[in-house]
Amino acid sequence: MDKFTFSYPTKVYFGEGSAAQALGAELSGTGETVMLAYGGGSIKKNGIYDEIRALLEKAGKKVVDFSGIMSNPTYKKAQEGAALVREQHVDFILAVGGGSVIDCCKVISAQAVLEEDIWDMEYKKGKFPAGGIRMGAVVTASGTGAEMNAGAVITYEEKKWKGPVFGTAASFAVLDPAYTMSVPQMQVLSGAFDTLSHAMETYLGTSDKDNVSDDVALAVMKNTVTNMRRLLKDSGDCQARSNLMWDSAMAENGILKCGRLTDFQAHQIEHQLGAYTDCNHGQGLAVIQPVYYRHIVKDAPEKFTRFAKVVFDADSAEAGLDALEAFIRECHLPTKMRELKSTVEITPEVLRQVADTCNIIKCNPRELDREEIYQILLECL
Ligand code: NZQ
Ligand code: ZN
Repeated sequence: MDKFTFSYPTKVYFGEGSAAQALGAELSGTGETVMLAYGGGSIKKNGIYDEIRALLEKAGKKVVDFSGIMSNPTYKKAQEGAALVREQHVDFILAVGGGSVIDCCKVISAQAVLEEDIWDMEYKKGKFPAGGIRMGAVVTASGTGAEMNAGAVITYEEKKWKGPVFGTAASFAVLDPAYTMSVPQMQVLSGAFDTLSHAMETYLGTSDKDNVSDDVALAVMKNTVTNMRRLLKDSGDCQARSNLMWDSAMAENGILKCGRLTDFQAHQIEHQLGAYTDCNHGQGLAVIQPVYYRHIVKDAPEKFTRFAKVVFDADSAEAGLDALEAFIRECHLPTKMRELKSTVEITPEVLRQVADTCNIIKCNPRELDREEIYQILLECL
């Protein structure tokens, strides 16, 4: 194993009834005013909003609503939330939603106590926030693992940029699989593909020495594929959603990254595709990742062969990629750009801009250049 430091900022409450348990235990001493932050209204339809609000009121809290956090949350929305926190003297932020709501709240929390603009601070000065308003997360859609890290993925519309902003990690997270039962099947599968992608991208990082992190990553990938297949047979399978919920957290809570460096290059490309198209994150990855892997398979043949064997029971690196592509089709996830829901027509010109502006991180198996990224994107059209 390579050298690493590992710490865990988030206490996890997993399973049925966890929201009552967590809010009962975690809210004492947090001050009077709680911001209840959520998305476009799914939690009002499925009853989660009423349940959480009642728990907050039972704990004697004054509740300030912050609604309308969109998928692929914008920088502007985070600034709006931070202004509300300051105006209403919010003491605690409770994010109730998927990765988008949780990410937006991480930035709201940090920005609310900063004098300066957080993007300028991080991207112009290379400084990162040291603290923020305390926050918790109630996960209603799994996939990103956003509830167990401090990194938010934010779309800065004016800059045509989507990427990380480091904010506040949730001090606790509620993962009740029952809360995910109303998530439409396609969103569950898109989120689960994101989980698979996190584990794959971490596994393909450096170093190449055999280590326990690789073994755990492969187990998470295998379990994710198995449970996505269970869901295809029965979308009401709560045990499958439960496994996927923990796979999602495991893939992004830092455990798989112990002793590893990773470039998340497929993510770098997809995030910038998101900046131009507002496409669904997991679906964008489903389109890009197999094509990208065909480009790098010869640079890491042993790793791809092991991935093929363990995850898809395929007997070669190439057969593993065939199986990955077939699996994406089996899940009815998009395989081409034209199948993505996009705010603009995805043309070669748009893809050129994506290739010219995405992050390129030198890691493993090898660094791509912008021309090759453009070729990869064109192959996805
Ligand atoms: O907005 P509402 O009405 O709540 O609807 C949401 C949204 O339409 C719906 N939903 C959530 N819970 C539901 C539900 N529908 C019915 N029942 C429920 N219980 O699901 C839709 C998608 O939600 P969203 O939060 O956007 O999806 P996801 O969790 O996939 O998050 C995507 C965002 O996370 C970022 C992505 O880039 C994207 O911006 N990521 C964050 C990461 C992180 N912080 O670690 C890592 C990832 O790689 C990723 O980049
Ligand atoms: Zn992701």
